Amino acid sequence: MELFGSRFHFLCFVSLFLLISAVFPVSSIGINYGQIANNLPTPENVIPLVKSIGATKVKLYDADPKVLKAFANTGVEFIIGLGNEYLSGMKDPAKARDWVKTNVQAYLPATKITCIFVGNEVLTFNDTSLSGCLLPAMEGVHTALVSLGLDKQVTVTTAHSLAILETSYPPSAGAFRKDLVNCITPILNFHAKTGSPFLINAYPYFAYKDSPKQVPLDFVLFQPNQGIVDPASNLHYDNMLFAQIDAVYSALASLGYKKLFIHISETGWPSKGDENEAGATPENAKKYNGNLIKLITSKKGTPMRPNCDLNIYVFALFNENMKPGPTSERNYGLFKPDGSPAYSIGFSTTTATGNSTVALPSPPAAPESSSSPSSSTGYLSISSATMERYSSNGIVGTLILVLLILINLVVVVVV
Ligand SMILES: *[C@@H]1O[C@H](CO)[C@@H](O)[C@H](O)[C@H]1NC(C)=O
Ligand SMILES: *[C@@H]1O[C@H](CO)[C@@H](O)[C@H](O)[C@H]1NC(C)=O
Repeated sequence: MELFGSRFHFLCFVSLFLLISAVFPVSSIGINYGQIANNLPTPENVIPLVKSIGATKVKLYDADPKVLKAFANTGVEFIIGLGNEYLSGMKDPAKARDWVKTNVQAYLPATKITCIFVGNEVLTFNDTSLSGCLLPAMEGVHTALVSLGLDKQVTVTTAHSLAILETSYPPSAGAFRKDLVNCITPILNFHAKTGSPFLINAYPYFAYKDSPKQVPLDFVLFQPNQGIVDPASNLHYDNMLFAQIDAVYSALASLGYKKLFIHISETGWPSKGDENEAGATPENAKKYNGNLIKLITSKKGTPMRPNCDLNIYVFALFNENMKPGPTSERNYGLFKPDGSPAYSIGFSTTTATGNSTVALPSPPAAPESSSSPSSSTGYLSISSATMERYSSNGIVGTLILVLLILINLVVVVVV
């Protein structure tokens, strides 16, 4: 009986979620699928986990053929990585073309690869020879895509650490490290020319861990708090992540690049850490990631870019047992390797998937009416991805869809 009860609640929740997402388009959730571990489920068994958190975009650190094959025809979008160890080779057009043929073209269009990130946090290694290879590698891969006719569907970028900033507070004063400006400027030019996003990995957790006495925990965890006002812009910030993102917008603007899109390629919070890693607890991880997911689905931009979608990839899908470094490094996952939730993300119902259980997403916050588009609603806006997602769930999915369409018809009539 209890099972029936929770199933029923789940159905109500899903129809509410679908209704909200059908009537108010929501930004989609991205998730980082790191695999530095020897105990992770097979990629086939990862698909339901990705879907259970509502993620429609996955970021891979490489171009793992098993993953790219398993996710064919799932509708999930992929950003794949070209590791730092391959950068120096990519200025050779033949090598770049081979890489793109083998790791991208071979999976299109069944697997929706939309972006390649060339190198991870390269500039903050302070290795000038590696940094010097970055732009030529990005250009090499882009040229290969052009020659294969794929550049319209696949963009090229790289992911930076927030440590490329010298100043991040207040957000309006955001500026790049002076010693990196000469290297970053031509990369920004590349983004502007090719229309690719600027990727930044941003962790309010690090700021808190370094100064737990000074940084208010609620401000970093998206909990209700007074926030801060940027004295120069007068903009109000109630969470640190938005302040960090706007600091990057300021840094870009200060070099004359006001129109680039920023995607947050990593952010997250560890559920466990060493004694000297303040704040790394399941309670805090649940607040950070639960609130973050609500924020992403609420379709609210940052104070500087209120109308821009938040493109955020949560770090990470799994706890990764073979990552070096402090304990926190192995405990960023939403899931344990057996597929069970590392902690509840705020919505306690679970559903069986094979032998494991998964956490369901917390209900999205109702979008504020002021920011929601006024019309263009109704059943027509149920996306094909949504149809695919739920119609593939057999009879339950079909019932949900029918219910959803009925509810939407009512909404259309009422509106
Ligand atoms: C790189 O250089 C910056 C600025 O000189 C310094 O703050 C940072 O700690 C260095 N990073 C590494 C990994 O050496
Ligand atoms: C489920 O568990 C059983 C026994 O523990 C095991 O034999 C089986 O392979 C598992 N199935 C999956 C899909 O993991």
